[in-house]
Amino acid sequence: MYKKILLSCALLASAGLSLLNANPLHNKGTKKAILLVTFGTSDPDAKVAFINTEEEARKRFPGVEIRWGFTSNIIRKKLKRQGIVTHSPQLALAQLAEDGYTHVAIQSLHTIPGIEYEKITSIVRKTELAPALFRKITIGAPLLSNGNDVKRSMEELLKQVPAERKPEDAVIMMGHGTHHFTDLIYTAAAVTLNNMDNNAFLGTVEGSIMLDDVLAQCKKNNIKKAYLMPFMSVAGDHAKNDLAGDEDDSWKSGLTKAGITCVPCLKGTAEFDSIVAIWLDNLEKAYKSLDGHTSSH
Ligand code: CO
Repeated sequence: MYKKILLSCALLASAGLSLLNANPLHNKGTKKAILLVTFGTSDPDAKVAFINTEEEARKRFPGVEIRWGFTSNIIRKKLKRQGIVTHSPQLALAQLAEDGYTHVAIQSLHTIPGIEYEKITSIVRKTELAPALFRKITIGAPLLSNGNDVKRSMEELLKQVPAERKPEDAVIMMGHGTHHFTDLIYTAAAVTLNNMDNNAFLGTVEGSIMLDDVLAQCKKNNIKKAYLMPFMSVAGDHAKNDLAGDEDDSWKSGLTKAGITCVPCLKGTAEFDSIVAIWLDNLEKAYKSLDGHTSSH
């Protein structure tokens, strides 16, 4: 009895498969696209990071359609007031489907697989429930998705510190941080960074390692001068104000009050080709897996 049911299930499944393959619409031309997804920025200067990312992506994937999705509605509204039209990832995907694209590789330009990244995975799950939209959709992991990439990111960022920095000067990186459990990745990055360079520290604006922790480490190492770098894809509001601003509560003000001379180096991580390469390596995996038969991300 069981065997019979199993057999008929298998027959149904194979009949279903061959029907799918026989469907001329299903096999009609493949059109692949890439969707780069970021939180977004409304800061016109910070946009250089996105321009650089897109240029690098075009070099890596010549001739492939590349579009953008901004997850932040607030940023998109601000940009709209400036006359700049941007799409949410959902709208960008709908537009790609409308334009006849059959396969889409989404690349998260986030730093950690936190809340913003989960937004993308949930959109993709919903899109997979509507298979009429695309034949396949995949997602490339954010910057810090394994130990090796944490190490690679910290190594590459240390190379971006101005050459005049002396070993006794500190390098202080400001990550975003999150209340999500993936904030632990910042802790891992901070330890990795400090193991590479005893005077290099990483803290966060909204996570568990705060300015006080960074200050304590500076005091312990008797730091007199520090190079300040954002550890965020763009050097936008957090970098300009929370890190290097003149207000009392900025990191620069806090460090200066502690007798440390600050040298802000305000470049987003996506302005560095060697960091963009990590995101693009993840995208390459996602793009290659578009050719597989089942959905995966
Ligand atoms: Co923020």
